[in-house]
Amino acid sequence: MPTGRFGSALKMVCGICGEEHEIWEMVYRCGRCDYPLEVVYDYNEALEEIEKEGFKGSGVWRYRALLPISNPDHIITLREGGTPLIRARRLGRELGLEELYIKDETRNPTWSFKDRGSAVGVSMALEVGARAVGCVSSGNMAASLASYAARGGLRCIVLIPRGTPLGKVAQTLICGAEVAEVDAPYPEICRMALRFGGGLGVYMVHNDAPMRVEGQKTISLEAAEELGWRVPDWILVPTSSAGNFSAVWKGWRELREMGLIDGLPRMGLVQAEGNAPIVRSYIRGLEYVEPNPEPKTIAPAIANPDPPSGRRALRILRASGGHAEMASDAEILHAQRLLASTEGIFAEPAGAVPAACARRMLEGGIIDRDDMVVLVVTGAGVKDVEASLKSCGSPVELHSPEEIGAFLEACLGREQ
Ligand SMILES: Cc1ncc(COP(=O)(O)O)c(C=O)c1O
Ligand SMILES: [Zn+2]
Repeated sequence: MPTGRFGSALKMVCGICGEEHEIWEMVYRCGRCDYPLEVVYDYNEALEEIEKEGFKGSGVWRYRALLPISNPDHIITLREGGTPLIRARRLGRELGLEELYIKDETRNPTWSFKDRGSAVGVSMALEVGARAVGCVSSGNMAASLASYAARGGLRCIVLIPRGTPLGKVAQTLICGAEVAEVDAPYPEICRMALRFGGGLGVYMVHNDAPMRVEGQKTISLEAAEELGWRVPDWILVPTSSAGNFSAVWKGWRELREMGLIDGLPRMGLVQAEGNAPIVRSYIRGLEYVEPNPEPKTIAPAIANPDPPSGRRALRILRASGGHAEMASDAEILHAQRLLASTEGIFAEPAGAVPAACARRMLEGGIIDRDDMVVLVVTGAGVKDVEASLKSCGSPVELHSPEEIGAFLEACLGREQ
């Protein structure tokens, strides 16, 4: 059992009843409330370190003062994070927003934001002496965890639901992970994995695991720093388990706790209409999320029908004065095309949901034209080409030099 301090991290704590666990324990949820545990820090100590050392390096580990790793030899990195916050003027004009930014998470080493959480999760697995890491994933997390486990020399076991996009499956297999495709509903696979994994010494780095949340909160730390510690009015996060939504909120909250910012953004939780259990529960004013009996969406990355951090997300929505919104498959595909054709960013459908929902929120009077808005574009389109092909059409076929000439003339004559 590891001893000693984990940086400025103190404990893992339940946000409902205050039940405490040590940082090194392979436990992820409160035994009493079944609520996800969160890492808490000595924020005075963390701030002292930041004031003394500053933020050094780039990416996730730039924020080491706010991460729970003690031994630098255990840090496993592929240079995740450090993604740009892009001022999106052309997309902003299309949507009717004057100050729009994109946090472009497609640029991570395995092309999704999951790398931030995998880096911290796999590093922590080495800290606690785990035999293996594991997760249940709709694709991106599996590919990401497999990559970091390979880099850290750890065994990786992942369960994926049937129908996971092939690009993501290949990415996971080639890294040498043990992969099982399970024919059971996603929430059930998650529960089984947590139950068996713990007993076998498999360190779980699933979608809302405390250490995954720690890594992914750096999305907010980076965005805040890039904005010169200004706080956006809104930040829109595509949501499935709500692990990342919780992480993004935790980042802003910790910055305020340390006095590095003086406000908090309003949190926009966005889902696909075909699987929007959190949005629908929010609209009905519920405390708990009612599972969706029939998930069906063009965005399989956000298809968890029974989100394990759903209750936490509803609390965050209330605490931040936020809003939950959903978009149809047609709106998502349209937004995917728009992101690429206005800003050059090829997102997978899930990553385009914030752009689709920003339009709805603007039309509904929830966002104002002059609000500062950040869209988190979570994953790259190349991993799910089949879905992307639905929104981009196909090339023109030409058979002769004359046809090429006519084609070029027609292109130049065409309005942009
Ligand atoms: C591209 C993409 N966006 C969003 C999400 C949703 O993240 P979370 O499950 O933490 O809510 C996922 C999760 O797999 C994802 O792969
Ligand atoms: Zn509790």
